Amino acid sequence: KVPVELTNETVKNFSYDEQKDWDLLRVALTKYTDNGALDIPLIIDGKKVYKENTLPQVNPAKHSQVLAQVSQASEEDVLSAINSAKRAKSEWLRTPWTDRAAIFLKAADLISTKYRYDMLAATMLGQGKNVYQAEIDSIAELCDFFRFNVKYAEEMYGVQPIKSSPGVWNRAEYRPLEGFVYAVTPFNFTAIAANLVGAPALVGNTVVWKPSATAALSNYILMNILEEAGLPKGVINFIPGEPNMVTDNVLEDPEFSALHFTGSTQVFKSLYGKINSNVAADKYRDFPRIVGETGGKNFHLIHPSASIDHSVLSTLRGAFEYQGQKCSATSRLYVPNSIWSEFKEKLIAGVETITIGNTSDSSTIHEFMGPVIHEQSFNKLSLAIDEAKQDSELEIIAGGEYDKTNGYYVQPTIVQAKSKDHPFLKNEFFGPLLTVYVYPDNEFVPILNAIDSTTKYGLTGSVFARDRSAVRVAEEALRYSAGNFYINDKCTGAVVGQQWFGGARASGTNDKAGSGNILSRFVSVRNIKENF
Ligand code: ALA
Repeated sequence: KVPVELTNETVKNFSYDEQKDWDLLRVALTKYTDNGALDIPLIIDGKKVYKENTLPQVNPAKHSQVLAQVSQASEEDVLSAINSAKRAKSEWLRTPWTDRAAIFLKAADLISTKYRYDMLAATMLGQGKNVYQAEIDSIAELCDFFRFNVKYAEEMYGVQPIKSSPGVWNRAEYRPLEGFVYAVTPFNFTAIAANLVGAPALVGNTVVWKPSATAALSNYILMNILEEAGLPKGVINFIPGEPNMVTDNVLEDPEFSALHFTGSTQVFKSLYGKINSNVAADKYRDFPRIVGETGGKNFHLIHPSASIDHSVLSTLRGAFEYQGQKCSATSRLYVPNSIWSEFKEKLIAGVETITIGNTSDSSTIHEFMGPVIHEQSFNKLSLAIDEAKQDSELEIIAGGEYDKTNGYYVQPTIVQAKSKDHPFLKNEFFGPLLTVYVYPDNEFVPILNAIDSTTKYGLTGSVFARDRSAVRVAEEALRYSAGNFYINDKCTGAVVGQQWFGGARASGTNDKAGSGNILSRFVSVRNIKENF
């Protein structure tokens, strides 16, 4: 048994009297801002490979500042990463699983102690998180994934066929998949990247990892920490690069055996399609496992019986924490007519208290919001806001300004839609843009149908009500509308081991990060029967 307590990492609250935390954080921020751009290599077979072809990773809060020059993999590098993953496999799969576990447990301990401030600084600077959002992601959730996965693996390995009989012994061997795993990881959570590479590796797979260009700094530090914790060379190969080129080369390999993905629905669909046509063309030895978590159009539904203060506060947090860039973020809100006037007043008053800070300036890293991740995202959001200004079916009731002079800043913006099937209630914007629809009180059941059918997504959603029977009706009607369904809480902030995370429909394969289920996708069980 692995002596791991299943407790979640303690989240530091960075209150102002914790001077030491702030001092350490300032030192770490300075380390990554005052020494010029860091050269980030590929890491293939444990070797750092520096390329002439690099892509800058800029600070989204101050885009004139280049944080890192990130080496870009060539086709040859991708092939060499695949070969390295294949070579490392035979020893890694024979490594006792407890030794593999020790590496991830040690990495979690290193992150919660020695490298805490490096991980925080890299996530804040590169991904535009304030200190609290960086803490719950790159420290708490990341350590939780590594530790809880160990516990889940222990449980999984312990499950054996129930029936043996005299003279017969039946057992199950939890083999890793036979080929290699391809992990495509997102910018918005350092923890998700860690889990996408860590979960398959823990159970004996080797991995080719394409990190997001806008999370390269934190992801590179994580890779170094894993190596310091004892990860053997070749087990995880870190290859930032042009996404289509990397993917096309990886998916050509007959030993490609799984995709572990978090990102947009559109990219996931395209990868899914390529994999399926390769399967049809007999390209692979296995039927590859496809595990993906994608977009959402997550809802807050307010019932007339709800606490207005609580649901307003929850909505502000769900919609605008981390600038609405969590896949779980609240992006549509349904409020009954009878309480709308009070709700609206409190919502607007709340939005007006939201402060926006430069997430790389230690005097503003505690502000509620920071920049959005990059120029494409800024452009998409500013275009949507401009459309809202023109559209007679929409009214901007809060925010509506944006500015990219220094960083990619978008005000927290709330738009009221006149019709319940307006495209703003269907499409994901992935930013601080919330659309509200006010429904007649006697249309609670029709609004449930609209919530369910307006979008193709099914990730997260919340109902706010004191009336228990209304909760029950919503829970029934919205069975497939959200893989994470919350009652009287915001629809963001799933905690590893507490709220298993993921949704179905266009939101992904719903294999539930932070649960034991995810590990079972990366093993291929052999049943062994022995007679004596
Ligand atoms: N797991 C993250 C959340 O629930 C995305 O907010």
